[in-house]
Amino acid sequence: MTTATTTRTAARVVDAVKVYGVGDTAVRALDGVSVDFPAGRFTAIMGPSGSGKSTLMHCAAGLDTLTSGAAYIGDTELGSLDDRRLTLLRRDRVGFVFQAFNLVPTLTVAENITLPLDLSGARGDREWIDALVDVVGLRDRLHHRPSELSGGQQQRVAVARAFAGRPEVVFADEPTGNLDSRSGGEVLGLLRRAVQQTDRTVVMVTHDPVAAAHADEVVFLADGRLVDRMDSPTAEKVLDRLKAFEDVRS
Ligand SMILES: Nc1ncnc2c1ncn2[C@@H]1O[C@H](COP(=O)(O)OP(=O)(O)OP(=O)(O)O)[C@@H](O)[C@H]1O
Ligand SMILES: [Mg+2]
Repeated sequence: MTTATTTRTAARVVDAVKVYGVGDTAVRALDGVSVDFPAGRFTAIMGPSGSGKSTLMHCAAGLDTLTSGAAYIGDTELGSLDDRRLTLLRRDRVGFVFQAFNLVPTLTVAENITLPLDLSGARGDREWIDALVDVVGLRDRLHHRPSELSGGQQQRVAVARAFAGRPEVVFADEPTGNLDSRSGGEVLGLLRRAVQQTDRTVVMVTHDPVAAAHADEVVFLADGRLVDRMDSPTAEKVLDRLKAFEDVRS
């Protein structure tokens, strides 16, 4: 029981089932997944296209609801919340990074970073945000607009924005999907540092074994089920594991 008592869980799903559609066209995107995302760790979710990665992330983050089973952020069961409380939870306790950077073009870098806080009327922790600006290396770009930045720099703004409210967990869906390998590497290094230096939790969906190798642990999905977990991943080990799935499927 020692590990159970010392390891906090930032987010988890239990017996998660998600069915899209009804009747003949129904798709069982999640088919009984139980997985926990430990606090203070960087977890990658991998698996073939259509295996349910984004669905798992969306349901774990409270962006979508499960057909059956339960999803928790900390000790809060998302299914027990009404719409208003779910909105507050997403705003105050969860951060998001998507493949498309989703920055507001008319706002500066600094304004984009604090936008969620400004919208919520929260003052935010200025020291935290200041430190964050250095973690993401945007100090000399604070007054630029997104169109004046490279793709990698824009995604670094999106990462800073995701962490601005000190969320318990940041969910990222293919955050490096639109970036070249060098900028992608910078963003991944940044997520890693955010976890290490600020004791945050990151859950990232990726196709890329090199990206997954930045995580502490990889969980593998196939056909809506959790099929494996791997600690201390390397790109080679992840690639081998993915190839093994393909051999089984073909
Ligand atoms: N809104 C939706 N309506 C109907 N079916 C959906 C919907 N979203 C996802 N699906 C289906 O659920 C399954 C899992 O989709 P999901 O997007 O979670 O996969 P993924 O692992 O993220 O794939 P990719 O790597 O291509 O992003 C797929 O068969 C997909 O077609
Ligand atoms: Mg996806």
